[in-house]
Amino acid sequence: MADFKDLVQIRYSCRNYGSIAIDDALIEQLLETAHFAPSATNAQPWRVFVVKSTDELKKVRQAYNREWFATAPVVLMLCAETGKAWTRADGKNHADIDLAILADHITLAAADLGLATCWVCNFDAAMLSQNFNLSPDCKPVVLLPLGVPATDDIPPKKRKDLSEFVEWL
Ligand SMILES: Cc1cc2nc3c(=O)[nH]c(=O)nc-3n(C[C@H](O)[C@H](O)[C@H](O)COP(=O)(O)O)c2cc1C
Repeated sequence: MADFKDLVQIRYSCRNYGSIAIDDALIEQLLETAHFAPSATNAQPWRVFVVKSTDELKKVRQAYNREWFATAPVVLMLCAETGKAWTRADGKNHADIDLAILADHITLAAADLGLATCWVCNFDAAMLSQNFNLSPDCKPVVLLPLGVPATDDIPPKKRKDLSEFVEWL
C-alpha cells in the first residue's frame, strides 16, 4: 500500500495491459474504496457498469476503437444520471464534476491495488448509449480500462510548474 504522495506519482495513464484476468473480488474492493467519493448534495448521481464479458467488451471497444484499449481485460463505464445531480441556481448541473471525482477515486484506488487505468473520454457517446441501451438520463462520462500493466515502467510526469498557474492573493 502506497502513501498518498507516492500514489499520485504511480497512477498514470496505462495504454498497454497484460492479458491477466482481474478477480471480481478485487474490482469489488476497488469500487468499495472509491464509492466514498464526495458529490454535490451527496446526490451520488452515478452508475458504474463493470464490462468484462467478451460480448459486452466488444460493444464498448466499438465506441473507442484503439488497439491498446482492447488489451484491457475489464472496462469500467461510468455514467451520470444527470437528473439526479445537483443543479446550481444559475442552471449549472454538477453531474460531470461528481463523476470526475468518482473516476479519480477509482484510478487512485486501482493504483493502490497495483492495477492500472486510463481516463478515456474520446469515445463515441451515441454509439455507447445505443450499444448498452442506456436511458436518455444515463450519460456515459468516462471509460476506465482496468488491468495489470504489461510493463513495470511508469512514465515521468510532465506537469506545469506551480508558478505557472498558482496565484497567492
Ligand atoms: C478528462 C480526461 C479525458 C481523457 N481522455 C483520454 C482519452 O480519450 N484517451 C486517452 O488515451 N487518454 C485520455 N486521457 C488521459 C490523459 O491524456 C492523461 O491523463 C494526461 O496526458 C496525463 O498523463 P497521466 O495520466 O499519465 O499522468 C484523459 C484524461 C482526462 C483527465
